[in-house]
Amino acid sequence: MARLFATEKAGGSALYKLHAVTVFAGICLVLCYRATHVPAAGAGRAAWLGMLAAELWFGFYWVITQSVRWCPIRRRTFKDRLAARYGDRLPCVDIFVCTADPQSEPPSLVMATVLSLMAYNYPPEKLNVYLSDDGGSILTFYALWETSAFAKHWLPFCRRYNIEPRSPAVYFADSDNKPNDPRTLEEWSVVKDLYEGMTERIDSVVRSGKVPEEMKVNHKGFSEWNTGGTSKDHHPIVQILIDGKDKGALDSGGNVLPTLVYMAREKRPQYHHNFKAGAMNALIRVSSVISKSPIIMNVDCDMYSNNSDSIREALCFFLDEEMGHKIAFVQYPQNYSNMTKNNIYGNSFSVINQVEFAGLDTWGGPLYIGTGCFHRREILCGRSFNKDYKEDWDQGIKTQHRIDQTEEKAKSLATCTYEHNTQWGNEIGLKYGCPVEDVITGLTIHCRGWESVYNNPPRAAFIGVAPTTISQTILQHKRWSEGNFSIFLSKYCPFFFGHGKIRLPHQMGYCLYGLWAPNSLPTLYYVLIPSLGLLKGTPLFPEVCYMTSHISVSYDLH
Ligand SMILES: *[C@@H]1O[C@H](CO)[C@@H](O)[C@H](O)[C@H]1NC(C)=O
Ligand SMILES: *[C@@H]1O[C@H](CO)[C@@H](O)[C@H](O)[C@H]1NC(C)=O
Repeated sequence: MARLFATEKAGGSALYKLHAVTVFAGICLVLCYRATHVPAAGAGRAAWLGMLAAELWFGFYWVITQSVRWCPIRRRTFKDRLAARYGDRLPCVDIFVCTADPQSEPPSLVMATVLSLMAYNYPPEKLNVYLSDDGGSILTFYALWETSAFAKHWLPFCRRYNIEPRSPAVYFADSDNKPNDPRTLEEWSVVKDLYEGMTERIDSVVRSGKVPEEMKVNHKGFSEWNTGGTSKDHHPIVQILIDGKDKGALDSGGNVLPTLVYMAREKRPQYHHNFKAGAMNALIRVSSVISKSPIIMNVDCDMYSNNSDSIREALCFFLDEEMGHKIAFVQYPQNYSNMTKNNIYGNSFSVINQVEFAGLDTWGGPLYIGTGCFHRREILCGRSFNKDYKEDWDQGIKTQHRIDQTEEKAKSLATCTYEHNTQWGNEIGLKYGCPVEDVITGLTIHCRGWESVYNNPPRAAFIGVAPTTISQTILQHKRWSEGNFSIFLSKYCPFFFGHGKIRLPHQMGYCLYGLWAPNSLPTLYYVLIPSLGLLKGTPLFPEVCYMTSHISVSYDLH
């Protein structure tokens, strides 16, 4: 049977290998020189040995790096074959979006993300979008309520004109998207006005911090906030704003809408909430009584979908007859739209996105980076690899229950105490206790025998907002390097935890990020000590004058 995806070697790999061999020879020569020219006891000796140590480290780190550079691969999907083979018999998909604070993550932007996800080119009755609000804010709930109304116009509009990207904020901001045809233009203007009206209402409600009374009476959901409570101390809230199984919830074109759910898990000051991992685990449970789709996708609230076919692409991997049964998750790269001038903070992550993750894909798959990722629910919930296991792609909740009963059941799964004395946060769901919970969760999945796949299509699947100041960038890098280093030092160190479970180059790939932080020390040494040596006249490098005299000699010969 024809495959649903193809794997190709990246071009230029022979050239790279040649280059790597010359670098390796260079490293050996440098180390050789250092070891054989140690100065006699004196001022320069300690500095010289320090240089030797730094160079040994760089050599070691370079070798580690080769694991992800040696033979990167590219994946290509065949969506037409998927469509021909499965038609509309595709699995249900749950989409998780996590937001934490209506002040730092403006609800109107989060809603543009939610709309771009609801508008995926996918059967709407199979799509379920969940928003986890760790701020437990009535403002975010209000914004989602407005969104559920606007979606009735936005989704049919996207479908009819097949527009891209499907985030209304990005689509309407680009004046090139204005249609020329007068009939289309009329509809375009109507939808644009509706969108702008909605954004203005959301922004003004967020500014004032209060939802107008007359709006509160329109939806029973607002009554959840009647009892008071703060962002750190409130009861669990689950509200199904659109029930996709309810034939009454139709868009303006008469089509079913995707299910849309708001969740704010219970927060109490005396219980630790485990940040995003805690929210994700609550979402896994809450969704298990509402839709229970076999595929879970999660994305950051500031990353809109730039490609409405991403779900179908991801399914080309999961549903592939030959390889699909081994694949636990499909990771897309993190792309950013607004880079600073000349990309001075390196936020485009070109090396990671273009080379390193493609290199990791050779050895068993990229890391899970917490956004832009599709998982199989069963595997996220702790299942180990077994080649005889067959996924039931038809699973999912189809029968209709009463909405309020479902909501009550879901709330009981989002309480602070639910996880006590369970394996949640350990064997089940995302792991707790690490600043990069996503990486450690992915590592455990790989160690249970599964593979992952890196899909980096030419047109970016998800686009987020990059940090734009040095302090934001430093904060982000600190979290990553600290988190990955703490994994390296913990019992999850890929060399020990992964020993015998994943291949050595895969372990090295993980350690590349684990050793980011310590790599800074020899770098600092290498920057500071030779400069100080210059001031004191202590040579730490061979003298260059030799060369110049050679050149002048060859000149004389002419
Ligand atoms: C990027 O976007 C954010 C939020 O929209 C904005 O605050 C920031 O100024 C933008 N940065 C650049 C460089 O455009
Ligand atoms: C996002 O999608 C648009 C098409 O809608 C495409 O032109 C653009 O290149 C994409 N952005 C990136 C970064 O790939």
